Amino acid sequence: YWLNPHVAEPDGEARVVGTCGDVMEIRLKFKGERMVEGSPWTNGCAHSFNCVWAAVDLSKGKSPEEILDIDPAMIREAVGGLPRDRWHCAALAAETLHAAVDHYMKAVSGENPPRHEPR
Ligand code: FES
Repeated sequence: YWLNPHVAEPDGEARVVGTCGDVMEIRLKFKGERMVEGSPWTNGCAHSFNCVWAAVDLSKGKSPEEILDIDPAMIREAVGGLPRDRWHCAALAAETLHAAVDHYMKAVSGENPPRHEPR
């Protein structure tokens, strides 16, 4: 399951490498301008895993614009708080989420085609 994200053909996706070296990936599926399915992935620590999952959970049912309002503080709250030295995990999750939405919005506007890169 970890090797094969369940959103195989996302409408928007992003993979971001944090300053700590951890990688996060989010794939999003939209229907009628609402996020209906998401697929989080990371090779990072437990905090990273929690944050990237929370980012996707917070996005469910939201429009792209509403998803862009999800910030690191909301993700930290969703996971029940983080030690100060792990706040960057929530920041990386938010950055990855926003990049996936950006990819979706550009694909919709014809700026870039969907990509389904192998991991
Ligand atoms: Fe790298 Fe959390 S330790 S993102």
